[in-house]
Parts: sequence; C-alpha cells; structure tokens
Amino acid sequence: MAPVTSLASTVDQRIADALSAALPQAGAADPLLRRSDRADFQANGILALAKQLKGNPRELATRVVAALAANDVIKDIEVSGPGFLNVTVTDRAITETLAARAADERLGVPYAEQPGTTVIDYAQPNVAKEMHVGHLRSAVIGAAMVELLEFTGEKVIRRHHIGDWGTQYGMLIQYLIEHPHELDHEDGAVDGESAMSALDRIYKASRAAFDSDQEFKERARDRVVALQSGDEQTRAHWQRFVDESKIYFYSVFDKLDMEIHDEDIVGESGYNDMLEETCRILEETGVAVRSEGALCVFFDDVKGPDGDPVPLIVKKSNGGYGYAATDLSAIRDRVRNLDATTLLYVVDARQALHFKMVFETARRAGWLGDGVKAVQLAFGTVLGKDGKPFKTREGETVRLVDLLDEAVERATAVVREKDKREQLSEPEIAERGVQVGIGAVKYADLSTSASRDYKFDLDQMVSLTGDTSVYLQYAYARARSILRRAGDARPVAHPELELAPAERALGLFVDQFGETLAEVVSTYEPHKLAAYLYQLASHFSTFYDQCKALDENNPPAVTENRLFFCDITARTLRQGLELLGIRAPDSL
Ligand code: ARG
Repeated sequence: MAPVTSLASTVDQRIADALSAALPQAGAADPLLRRSDRADFQANGILALAKQLKGNPRELATRVVAALAANDVIKDIEVSGPGFLNVTVTDRAITETLAARAADERLGVPYAEQPGTTVIDYAQPNVAKEMHVGHLRSAVIGAAMVELLEFTGEKVIRRHHIGDWGTQYGMLIQYLIEHPHELDHEDGAVDGESAMSALDRIYKASRAAFDSDQEFKERARDRVVALQSGDEQTRAHWQRFVDESKIYFYSVFDKLDMEIHDEDIVGESGYNDMLEETCRILEETGVAVRSEGALCVFFDDVKGPDGDPVPLIVKKSNGGYGYAATDLSAIRDRVRNLDATTLLYVVDARQALHFKMVFETARRAGWLGDGVKAVQLAFGTVLGKDGKPFKTREGETVRLVDLLDEAVERATAVVREKDKREQLSEPEIAERGVQVGIGAVKYADLSTSASRDYKFDLDQMVSLTGDTSVYLQYAYARARSILRRAGDARPVAHPELELAPAERALGLFVDQFGETLAEVVSTYEPHKLAAYLYQLASHFSTFYDQCKALDENNPPAVTENRLFFCDITARTLRQGLELLGIRAPDSL
C-alpha cells in the first residue's frame, strides 16, 4: 500500500511552488507552514524572505497568492497581518486524504527513507535484587521506542544489559555454598515472587555475614577470584542466581504486558571475554593511562567539585574491571558484530556523566566512528506524591510488583464503577482492570518528557478525566461502540459532503499522525505521541458531542461518513496506543 501525503505537506509543496514561480530569486525558500487557529494552516515564511529580498512582505505575499496554480486542495488563501498567508483546505481534500489513509494498513504512514540498525539497551534490572520504579521507566520507555522504531522500518536489536556481575557474587555464592538449600523450591513450581523472596533472603543474610564475620568475608573474597577464573562449581552457583532472577524478571515483565526474550538478555557478564582486550587497546593507544595504579581516561571538561579531573576508571587498582570496561566492550560488540548504526541507551539521567565519558572514550579509541550515533535517552527520577524520591514510609525502595498490583486493583474498581448497567462479566472486569491499570502506569511514565522527574500518583493515573490512558481507552471504546451500534450502516467516506467544524478539526488532526511519529522517532520523545493521542481523543470527544453519527434524521451518507470518521479515529488511537505498549479494549 502506498504512503499518503499529508495535507500539510501537500499545501506546503503548493505554496513552495508558487513561491519559486513568483520570486525566482528566492531559491528553494521554506514556506514555514504551521497549523493555525485562524485558518487550517498559516505560512510564515514570506516574512523572513521579504527581509532577505528587501521587499514589502504583504506585496510579496500577494504575488505568491497570484502565482498559486489552480488546485482542488486549497479552498481559500489570504494575506493577513504583516505578510502571513492563511490557508483553508477543501472539505473534499480532508475526506479524500483520510480515505486514502483508511485504505492502508499503516494508515498511510511512510517508512523511514534510510532505515538503519539500532541497538537499544533497556529494561536492565540487577540479578538478586528487587526491581524498582527506575527499572520500570527504562522498560516502559524502551519498549515504546522499540515499537516506534520498528514501525518506521528500522532494524532493532534489543539488549537487556542486566547487572549480573561484580564482587557481591562472592558473598552470595559463598553463602549459598554454606547453606546449600536456600534456593530450593519445595514443590518444584516456582513463581517470580517466591524466587525473589528467596534471593532477597540470601542477599540480606550474606550481607550480614559479610559485614560481621571476618572469616566469611575472606572466603567471600576468595570466591570472587574463583568466579573470575572460571571455576566450574562457582560458575554453576552463579548461574543459579541468574536463573532464579530471570524467573522473577519475567514475572514482572509479564505483569507489565511486555515481551522480553532470553536471547536478548546479554548482561554485564556477557562481555567478560572482551574486558582484558578492551583495556589493553585503550592503554596501547594511549587513550587510557595509569593513574594511582588504576587505568583511567581523562577529559578536559570533567572535573570534580575541587577542580581535580574526574577520570573514567576502566580497570581498578586491584585489577578488577568495572562498569565502564563492560560498557566499552559492549560498544565494540554492538558496532562490530551487530552492525549498529545507532546505539540507544534508555538509562537513568543520573548516569549521564558515565555515558558521556564512555561515548567519548569509544570515539577516541575509534570504536565509535562518524557513521554511528550514540544516544542516551536519559530519564528522570520517579517521585512520590510529596515530590521526594519514591520511597515507602519506612524509607525503603518501593517494590515494583506492589505498585503494579495496586494500579490494577484501582483500575478494576474504576472499570466496575463505569459498568453501571452491569454488562461485563467478572472475568471481563478483571481483564479490563489489568489493561487499564497497566496502561495507566505506562502512560503516566510516557506522557511526561522522559528527562523530567515525574510524580507517581495512582489516583491521578486511573482518573477518567485529564491526560490519562483511561481517557484515551475510553475514547477508543466510545468510537467502537458507535460502530457496533450502527446496525447495517457501514463506515464509508463521502468526499462530496460538506464537513462540520468538529469534523474538519478531527480530520485534519488524524492526518497529522504520520508526521507526529516521524518527529517522535527522530527525537526519541515518546511523550509527543502521548500528547498527540490525548489531543486526538479530545477532538474526537468534541466530534462525538456535536456530530451525531447515529441520528435518525441524518441522510444515510452523513451517517456513513461519520462512521468513517469514527473508524479512522479509532484505528489511529489504537495504533498509537499499541506503539506505546498500551491495550485498547473494545468496550469499557
Ligand atoms: N543495571 C543498571 C541499573 O540498574 C542499568 C544498566 C544500564 N545499561 C548499561 N549499558 N550500562 O542501574
């Protein structure tokens, strides 16, 4: 199916043609077309052009209007203000453009012209540790970016860079060796929660032993050495921690209605074999230097509060490799073996300095060439209602699972309340409760700019009014319900019909979907899609109030055309929500 040219871009092209016909000396000037309140579009480009050509803008604008070729898209164009052009398009053009979108599975949205390969690093919890709201953000934003990129035709390779390596495994493994049954399951069947609680128990107990028992501490340290040198028994115990943790991770991702595949989980340990070489190359090329026994990379513009340079430490003075060595090795792997043209990291903003230094180091070493883009999609902190980092009253990190369960519980209450005529069965209420509750958590996360902190407020999240996923899901369900109740009437576009103001506004907005997606993908800003969908739902709601589709006084063609508007709006909402990882139930 063919991509559809939006009205904005058709009008833009027409005016650009008129511009160069009227003012050949202007070259390929941009009409700077924007949506407008006064007409459908406004072209602002002539002002700057007049300055450049030292002409009178209103006079130039008049010449451009005169040069406009006859066409059936622009109904009205007038010079306004100091030299803007106000443009109104024909109703026919709106309906025909939407009809072309409706005929295409992708709603006429084109593929990117030059798709590349993006390796995206997201959803990276840590082994033997509870997941928290920070991991939620990475997972939710990352999953949306995956869908969005794939929709544009980009090849996407997922990498879940889980924290599965480090000195703490010495203590964990040693403890397990000394208490061999701590990870056993009584009845064989394991669920994520019990896997996690066993891991948590071991974590706390081994930490206590490590801190209080000098001899245990020594044994734990030896165990780290054994692990790093590949001792088989030690490795096997380590693997058990990883496997148990994965059971837990999968249970949380499942709750989040998110698909994670085993082959995409390549944690820190996945790069062990490369660490030595990474450090050797850095040292040989002089990118890294020895400083106080450690192998370090320095940067002119990275200094601590005391003015001393803060280096990126790739190898510690005790010989241990850190987080940076792993990330540098991962870059080598992703560029060389996975052929990445973009490396995207969905990671907490507090790691921004780390990534800045890692990217710069990789550039200096030649691992990141000019053809490869490295981007951190940095996200802010999740705050509690009180505006402080999200903690329980006891000051502990809030468990992600508890939050999700509570969101589902509240959403289920909202669904039940909404179902006044008791049309939904209990299982249906439960199913929608999950779709609304999980959708609400995702949407709250996706609808504010990622870089900003946001307040985790369940009451607000599941509210039916305001900028929430429930509001969007509700708009979708309303549109679907009209289509269901239409009986024999079908959605059919009637370009010959005049449109009401609410229909025009809705139609023009639906037509912006593809352009919105292109912007969202090129700037890595999924919140702009959320904002678009919210506005789309608002336009639909005005249309719903003002343009009854199922009114017996409607001529049949009007009913068909309005059903057509319901249908294309519903499809656009659904597609948008799907890209954000949010379900759109048929009824609510
Ligand atoms: N596991 C880390 C954490 O919980 C996030 C990993 C981010 N990815 C990376 N390549 N460093 O904070």
